[in-house]
Amino acid sequence: MKLADALQIRNVTIRNRIALPPMATGKAVDGAPGDDMIEYYRQRSENTGLVIVEHEYVSPEGMAHPTQLSIASDEVIPGYRKLAGTIHGQGAAALLQISHAGAAAINGGLVVLAPSAVRTRDDRPMPQEMTAEDIKRVTECYVQAALRAKEAGFDGIELHGAHGYLLNQFYSPLTNKRTDAYTGSTMAGRTRFHAEVLKAVRAAVGEDFVVAIRFGACDYEEGGSVMAEIPEAVRIFEAAGADLIDISGGVPHIAEKPGHKEPGWFSEEAKCAKASVDIPVLVTGGVNTGADAQAILDAGAADIIGVGRAFLKDAGWAGKALASV
Ligand SMILES: Cc1cc2nc3c(=O)[nH]c(=O)nc-3n(C[C@H](O)[C@H](O)[C@H](O)COP(=O)(O)O)c2cc1C
Repeated sequence: MKLADALQIRNVTIRNRIALPPMATGKAVDGAPGDDMIEYYRQRSENTGLVIVEHEYVSPEGMAHPTQLSIASDEVIPGYRKLAGTIHGQGAAALLQISHAGAAAINGGLVVLAPSAVRTRDDRPMPQEMTAEDIKRVTECYVQAALRAKEAGFDGIELHGAHGYLLNQFYSPLTNKRTDAYTGSTMAGRTRFHAEVLKAVRAAVGEDFVVAIRFGACDYEEGGSVMAEIPEAVRIFEAAGADLIDISGGVPHIAEKPGHKEPGWFSEEAKCAKASVDIPVLVTGGVNTGADAQAILDAGAADIIGVGRAFLKDAGWAGKALASV
């Protein structure tokens, strides 16, 4: 498989195997994409296969940062419509990464919700354990966010299930201390919320819409999630309707694998996911050159490669990488 080869997911043709992974730009204007942000994405969509727009909060109490994008209300839709049109205008496919920060949310005068009353950061308040009612409401917030993304013209959404945010907090035994159906002591419990959200989103958006999940596959922390659990978890996501597994990980070392600096440092985890499901797998982490990305494809570790900081620095990264391999 070559970096320049197209990838089909449902009705969406991704023209090559290069993805811009979600990266918060701090450029949101009152929670919506402004002209600065749209220009940033326009530049990085040229020659790129898939653009995954940085995380947006699905509900105000799930806001991670004051400059974060919102997808929590209908007023922001026109800004996203312009953003989707701009990315498509450059020939790239476009997903929105929808998120709830859970225990990692800023206070903002609102109650901070999490699977359990476990603090994940010293600068955040103690969260409240979510009730069954809270879980139902937040599921509906993800659904409404996905419908807004669809209305704005995006090809799909990516659920943020990594980097210590809400879905990752349910998955990790370090933060999920529940004893109910969402218990942190079984795989079914740890993934129940993910599966419910995936199914609810799929039922609402229909068949012609990509539903991806960014999966914090391992915590790399004593007592946290481990590699051996990946196959069971990704099979649950696939069965619940996911179209793409985007491998990341690391809590508290976000998007990092301690002791690893090699290009594609989550390749082992991605390969493990890929061997377990039929849907495509994306991997991100440490890729600097087109040759790095091609080597990950050659090793059969992933179907599409995310390039974060190298793309931040050089908006023309994709064209150069394609020409180099
Ligand atoms: C400035 C910055 C912002 C980021 N924001 C997000 C985000 O919104 N959502 C997310 O899932 N990951 C986010 N990440 C993680 C990246 O998507 C990526 O996984 C990480 O940078 C490692 O890949 P790289 O070595 O290619 O940069 C962010 C990373 C950086 C550097």
